[in-house]
Amino acid sequence: MARNPSNEQGLPVNPGGTLDPSHVVGRDELITELWARLQRQSLVITSERRLGKTSIIKKMSAAAPTDILAFYRDVEGLNSPVQFVECIAQDIEQTLRQNRTASEGFRNLFKSLGGIEIGGVIRLPEAAQAHWQDALGMLFTELHTRNPDKTFVFFWDEVPWMLQKIHRQQGEEQAIALLDGLRQHRQSFPRLRMVYTGSIGLHHVVSTLQNTGYINEPVNDMYTVDLQPLTQEKATELARRLMRGKGISGADLAATALSVATLSDGLPFVIHHLVDGMAHGSLADPQRVPTLLDALLVDDHNRLDLQHYDTRLDAYYGKERAGLAREILDLLARHDAPVSISEVLNGLPSLLHSGDRPALQSEALRTLMRLLQRDHYLHQLPGTSTLQFRFPMMQRWWTLYRGLP
Ligand SMILES: Nc1ncnc2c1ncn2[C@@H]1O[C@H](COP(=O)(O)OP(=O)(O)O)[C@@H](O)[C@H]1O
Ligand SMILES: [Mg+2]
Repeated sequence: MARNPSNEQGLPVNPGGTLDPSHVVGRDELITELWARLQRQSLVITSERRLGKTSIIKKMSAAAPTDILAFYRDVEGLNSPVQFVECIAQDIEQTLRQNRTASEGFRNLFKSLGGIEIGGVIRLPEAAQAHWQDALGMLFTELHTRNPDKTFVFFWDEVPWMLQKIHRQQGEEQAIALLDGLRQHRQSFPRLRMVYTGSIGLHHVVSTLQNTGYINEPVNDMYTVDLQPLTQEKATELARRLMRGKGISGADLAATALSVATLSDGLPFVIHHLVDGMAHGSLADPQRVPTLLDALLVDDHNRLDLQHYDTRLDAYYGKERAGLAREILDLLARHDAPVSISEVLNGLPSLLHSGDRPALQSEALRTLMRLLQRDHYLHQLPGTSTLQFRFPMMQRWWTLYRGLP
């Protein structure tokens, strides 16, 4: 519980916007753990969209321990390794400038490597672009030489999107070269750490590359953190502080905050939206929360941005398996309680009407169920052979979205 909830600070509702680091609720313990882990190892932080990856790494890079130089970059829009290297150069230069550590010298060094500046932005000239790997190595070498007492943490937001773009636009060799090059640098520089975040699974991008014959494991030296929703206590605190920020009060404030925390499954983005739907200065009313959630789930504006849970199935699993995945989700959505895996296997329409040998089908389906777990749709209850939706809210949404009886 908050030490003294009646004195706690209200927060502005801001669904999907950039959060001030002091408005990030409930992630302090995790952040401490992540810094401890970064002493030894690089990280991959994965989660569904809008669980709070960006908020966490921005908060971390804004308040890094004194022995760490932190660099944040959203790499989602980058589509070539050259652009990526240019951005790293830019970020190093900027951070060094803020820390008043030898930024002028660094700028000159980059120029001496063939880098040029256009309108204050560092660029690799045409002739040097083929050598982006060397430029990257030299950047890291310089950084280490000039800052012997520091560890360097590069927070790169949405790496899988960048890799996908590089793969599509520059070919798989470039995507592979970048992934492998970065891994190699992690091995050679003892004070270099990287944090990749990703809302589309890095494993999907890597397995697409592996389909073209790529055999390396480009992130198996990194520790993967699967970001979880807020705990009930922290979700309740967030809901309460957002309500206070809107001047919502009354005897039912605590009960309403608890209802928001529970119905949102602790998803902070949903909590912001639910409070957004409440009127300024109104009386807190727990009875209204289910109605607010239902309105969001069938929202024409797709404000919760959930449709990608459906559309991405085709991209992840291919058309045919995506069809089966939808059947599995439909079946589970109809049950309030967890369903046994054998019941799923026996209950799918395709299997009932299929001419395929059932044994073969069953194995393919078991694999698919495992993939749906890995991709955050489903959850196997510990110690049982039963499955259910990972988030009850998602189950409710899937039922409404698919128009299931
Ligand atoms: N810890 C948090 N405290 C308060 N709000 C949060 C928190 N994490 C996420 N949010 C809300 O969710 C939105 C999306 O968060 P973001 O960090 O961009 O997620 P991601 O990077 O995983 O997509 C934010 O704009 C904010 O409304
Ligand atoms: Mg993000």
